[in-house]
Amino acid sequence: MASASPKQVKIVEVGPRDGLQNEKALVPTEVKVELINRLSDTGLTAIEASAFVSPKWVPQMADASNVLAKINKHPHISYPVLTPNMKGLERAIESGVKEIAVFGAASESFSQKNINCSIKESLDRFASVIDAAKKENIKVRGYVSCVLGCPYEGEIAPDKVAKVSKDLFDMGCFEISLGDTIGVGTPLSTRHMIETVAKAIPIETIAGHYHDTYGQALANIYASWDMGVSVFDTSVAGLGGCPYAKGASGNVATEDVVYMFNGMNIETGVDLTKLVETAWFIANVLDRKPNSKLSRVMEQTS
Ligand code: HMG
Ligand code: MG
Repeated sequence: MASASPKQVKIVEVGPRDGLQNEKALVPTEVKVELINRLSDTGLTAIEASAFVSPKWVPQMADASNVLAKINKHPHISYPVLTPNMKGLERAIESGVKEIAVFGAASESFSQKNINCSIKESLDRFASVIDAAKKENIKVRGYVSCVLGCPYEGEIAPDKVAKVSKDLFDMGCFEISLGDTIGVGTPLSTRHMIETVAKAIPIETIAGHYHDTYGQALANIYASWDMGVSVFDTSVAGLGGCPYAKGASGNVATEDVVYMFNGMNIETGVDLTKLVETAWFIANVLDRKPNSKLSRVMEQTS
């Protein structure tokens, strides 16, 4: 099951979507565009750009089409977007998107709160979205939320995570991103969960998406990497949270993850200095400091 620890990892930057979706004040489209353009110059190869979700549910993502129209798209970078349903997919197709993500959950209550349907209903919906996306040659990533705990149900059994992951994988998702939505996991619980999921789908197709509410995300990434996971979702400046998961803080800061892998001689392809500059750019616009000690220290010493 567990393969050797990867020599190279892929970072999926989710700051422009997961990072900004929870901001109370509307962030101007131009700022989102500049953020993505700056991130595109850091060496990242995947930047989640926005979400084609209902603007009534998440007003911050209402400008998704404009963001997609205005960013400078680099040919070697993918700019995935969230699409919860066919309407989201149609909007994504109009924007010329090449990769989308469907997002389900291992917790019934979270599924209801986040996308207003049961897990079963969500999977039926995703099946149609994935089929239609494939016909347009659009790649589909699958998310599973609440893999290490749910804000409404508490503990979540790893078997439930494995079941939803396998369903999404069998439907045609090329990668399954496992979301510790409220950041309650620790290295041992993460290990146990990954072990169970890796019995259901190939470990090469698993991504770790760990929020950092309790400061455990970096340790959980290390534990996952040690088991063979080679894709991690991170958010520049540690921005973010989920509007339908009270208490969820940002994803682990991209710069912290790049620093850790640099120190381990594991290739990320990301330029740390440019990344820290980008963290400061967005933090300054939002009138705060980056949620990363590393970014704060690097600014003082540069
Ligand atoms: P619903 O209310 O059941 O949907 O919401 P509906 O089909 O009944 O439609 C209601 C209205 O929304 C209609 O408009 C639709 O046209 C419109 P009206 O007729 O009332 O004027 N609508 C849309 N508009 C634009 N784009 C769309 C769309 N769909 C419907 N795609 C729905 C169901 C799924 C739409 C809603 O619950 C929703 O948008 N949820 C998204 C919530 C969200 O974005 N959460 C955060 C992202 S997930 C996350 O952060 C976790 C993750 O990071 C991993 C982790 O950390 O665990 C991924
Ligand atoms: Mg998230």
